Amino acid sequence: MNFLTNEKLTIVGAAGMIGSNMAQTAAMMRLTPNICLYDPFANGLEGVAEELRHCSFEGVHITFTSDIKEAFTGAKYIVSSGGAPRKEGMTREDLLKGNAEIAAQLGKDIKAYCPDVKHVVIIFNPADITGLVTMLYAGIDPSRLTTLAGLDSTRLQSEIAKHFDIEQSKVTNTRTYGGHGEQMAVFASSAKVDGTPLTDLIGTDKLTNEAWAALRERVVKGGANIIKLRGRSSFQSPSYVSIEMIRAAMGGEAFRWPSGCYVSTGGFDHIMMAMETKITKDGVSYTDVKGTETEMAELQSSYKHLCDLRDQVIEMGVLPPVDKWHTIN
Ligand code: LMR
Repeated sequence: MNFLTNEKLTIVGAAGMIGSNMAQTAAMMRLTPNICLYDPFANGLEGVAEELRHCSFEGVHITFTSDIKEAFTGAKYIVSSGGAPRKEGMTREDLLKGNAEIAAQLGKDIKAYCPDVKHVVIIFNPADITGLVTMLYAGIDPSRLTTLAGLDSTRLQSEIAKHFDIEQSKVTNTRTYGGHGEQMAVFASSAKVDGTPLTDLIGTDKLTNEAWAALRERVVKGGANIIKLRGRSSFQSPSYVSIEMIRAAMGGEAFRWPSGCYVSTGGFDHIMMAMETKITKDGVSYTDVKGTETEMAELQSSYKHLCDLRDQVIEMGVLPPVDKWHTIN
C-alpha cells in the first residue's frame, strides 16, 4: 500500500492523548511511513511508540525522542498539541501566557532545525495566537501554517445534523470564521440542510429562532461542553481535524473546512484568523469571506478580539510591537 509521501511527520506532545491519537490517525490514513513522536516529557512516550508498533501498521516506521534536535531535523510536516490544555471553568484565553511562551520556543526550534518545513499545524490554545507566535519565530511563510478553526465548522455541521436528525454529510458548507474561541463568527448563510439553505429554515417551526440560538451557542461552547462531558478537554476531534489538514498539505484529499490562517493583507493585518481557505501542497490560499451584514459585523468583532489578544501577547513581551516584527528573525 502506498503512502502520500515518504517525508518525515513529527508529532509534538506525542505522549499526551491528542498526540498519540494523531500518530495513530496518521498511520491509519497512510500519510507517511516516517512518523516521529516527540515529547519533552519522556514519561510514557516509549509506551505510545511501542503500542503503535503493536498495531503493526504496514510499512510504518515509528520513532520517538525527547530531543528536539532529533525530532525536528529533516521534519517536513509538524503538528503540535504541545501546550497546556484547558480545564473546566477556564476559557482558552486563560492559557494565553504560558502557551504563547511555548509557541515562541517551538517557533525558534523550527527555525533552528527545520526551516524548510512544508506545513505546520498548531492546535494548543488560544490556537490563533499560538499559531501566530510560532509562525513569527519560525520565520515561515503564513501559507505554511494552519490552526484549529476547522473544528468549529465540523461542530456546526454535527449540531445541525443532530437537530434535524439527519445523516451528517447531508449538512453541507457549514462555516465559522474569525477566532477559535467564544468570539467566533458562526455563519448561517452558507450552510445547506439536505439541499435547503439553512437560512430558509431558521425562524420556521423546523428550527425556531430560539432553537437556532441554542444550537449556535452549543457550537460556540463546543470545546467547553466536551470538558464538561469528559472531565477533560477534547482529543479525538482536534486530532482528526489536524491530521486532515496535514493530509491536504501533503497533496492528499482536500481539507473540508476553512482553517486558521495568518493573513497579512486584505484588511486583516497582523493577526491569524479563520478565513475561507484552501490547503494544498503549495500552501494555504484564501478567498474573501461572504456573508450577511450581521455575519460580517460578527466577523469584525471576532477580528477585534484577536487583535486584543495579539496586543496582550505584545504587552507580555512574548512578541515585540508589530512594527518590530521584522526584527524577530
Ligand atoms: C476544542 O475546541 O475542543 C479545543 O480548542 C479544546 C478546548 O479547550 O476547548
